[in-house]
Amino acid sequence: MKVLIPFLTLLFVVVVGFSRAEDTLISSQTHQKDLIGNCSYLINIYTSCYSPRRTRDHISLAFGDKYGHQVYVPRMDELPSAKLDRCITKAARCTGPCTSQICYMYIYRNGDDGWKPHDITVSGNFSKPFVFYFNTLIPNHAWFGFNFCKTSSLPSSATA
Ligand SMILES: *[C@@H]1O[C@H](CO)[C@@H](O)[C@H](O)[C@H]1NC(C)=O
Ligand SMILES: *[C@@H]1O[C@H](CO)[C@@H](O)[C@H](O)[C@H]1NC(C)=O
Repeated sequence: MKVLIPFLTLLFVVVVGFSRAEDTLISSQTHQKDLIGNCSYLINIYTSCYSPRRTRDHISLAFGDKYGHQVYVPRMDELPSAKLDRCITKAARCTGPCTSQICYMYIYRNGDDGWKPHDITVSGNFSKPFVFYFNTLIPNHAWFGFNFCKTSSLPSSATA
């Protein structure tokens, strides 16, 4: 009996440890499988009240998850129903590769008007809404944004 108890304890630890590892493996596999195909995204754009009344700037948008799945919108300003006028919130939709929880977003601005976003919220099939507060002028001809992913994102080409 004195030998059996430590043995059973050890067995318990090994079994529990193993099943936990298996759970993690299975959930990450289903998770990767779900991400195959195209997903739709809802983008809520709130333009700052300090932005020009109208803008002709060309705006590109890139966002994604911590695994390197990235959605690129070459012309956010041309998405149906997108409007980048001062002090208004507009919802636009786009499709792109599926991502898990979105945790980074970058904007590229090209133009002389100086569009200024207040915040942009994006959600997708497998991503809860995430708000990115900009509230600043986006520099011209440069990617500008935020990355809140815990692990650094690989460029999408690295995982494609
Ligand atoms: C995803 O969208 C692209 C472009 O619209 C299309 O060519 C492709 O077939 C789609 N893929 C799937 C799996 O639906
Ligand atoms: C994402 O959701 C849209 C509708 O909300 C649906 O039409 C589409 O098939 C979904 N895509 C995936 C890959 O689940």
